[in-house]
Amino acid sequence: MTALGQICRMSDFTSRLTATAAETEALLARLLGSATLPGETVRPQRLLEAMRSGALGGGKRLRPFLVVETAALFGATRDGALLAGGALELLHCYSLVHDDLPAMDNDDLRRGRPTVHKAFDQATAILAGDALLTLAFDVMAREEVHADAKVRIALVRGLARAAGVGGMAGGQMLDLAAEGRFAAKRALTENEITTLQAMKTGALIRFACDAGALLGEGDAQARASIARYGAAIGQAFQIADDLLDVEGDSATLGKAAGKDAAAGKGTLVGILGIAGARAKLDKLIAEADAALAPFAAKADTLRDAARFIAQRQS
Ligand code: IPE
Ligand code: IPE
Ligand code: MG
Ligand code: MG
Ligand code: MG
Repeated sequence: MTALGQICRMSDFTSRLTATAAETEALLARLLGSATLPGETVRPQRLLEAMRSGALGGGKRLRPFLVVETAALFGATRDGALLAGGALELLHCYSLVHDDLPAMDNDDLRRGRPTVHKAFDQATAILAGDALLTLAFDVMAREEVHADAKVRIALVRGLARAAGVGGMAGGQMLDLAAEGRFAAKRALTENEITTLQAMKTGALIRFACDAGALLGEGDAQARASIARYGAAIGQAFQIADDLLDVEGDSATLGKAAGKDAAAGKGTLVGILGIAGARAKLDKLIAEADAALAPFAAKADTLRDAARFIAQRQS
């Protein structure tokens, strides 16, 4: 591709990401309105404000983007995919609110603003996380996500497994254990770090891709290709995050930088060094590309998403 072609393609990617982010923001604002749903009693103002603070006004909205773009690849409707992506984003935002708590990573800054426990208090932040998590499942189960209840059940179950004990929450446990909080600290192997990261970060990103394939009712072979892509970019995403912790600055990241090594986090940067981690990242992007081969040019946006993940500055 010519240099001009490359620039046009990247600007097309950026405008697609920006458009999905804006639609997701509007959707989340609607979902976090003060009107109660059937079955609810009242939505306490302070809790709702804390949830809005954790979910609105920032974030790359990469997970909804992956849902929307994989759904498009499989010919599913955009509205259902946006709603499923919104559900996943609510769950992601909960994971950040809890990740930042003093008992976890103890961070004061997120998306360029005070973290929820700083803007409010710890108890409110815990409850805001709980309520974002539960709202995610409410939204994922809605009829507007997909007409077929079997597809909705598969999505709800997939989200639960990606988020729970054998997924994100389990990975967060391994992440804290790696700091040496619960037993004497020991150096983790590359395989152990890969497992930890595939769980704490990879699981939700893998699910984002699988959700699109589920919505579009892709066949088993196509789903397996997308699963391979999702696993590669999920792993790449956390390696890029760990590199940014070392090489990025807090103003651009909108969150603290330079904390992982001091906290004793288990990262590939820690054991392979910056060059080694970057080489691993490049390998994963090549793996993501290879996984998309069966879709030919139809998967170009997903190819660009993999590159974006590796090259992002925030
Ligand atoms: C941050 O995720 C937490 C990790 C899994 C590394 P993102 O980098 O996607 O955060 P936002 O949503 O864009 O703020
Ligand atoms: C967080 O990983 C993964 C989550 C499940 C939230 P990090 O702790 O590295 O994420 P940041 O750097 O705080 O965004
Ligand atoms: Mg963390
Ligand atoms: Mg953190
Ligand atoms: Mg990090």
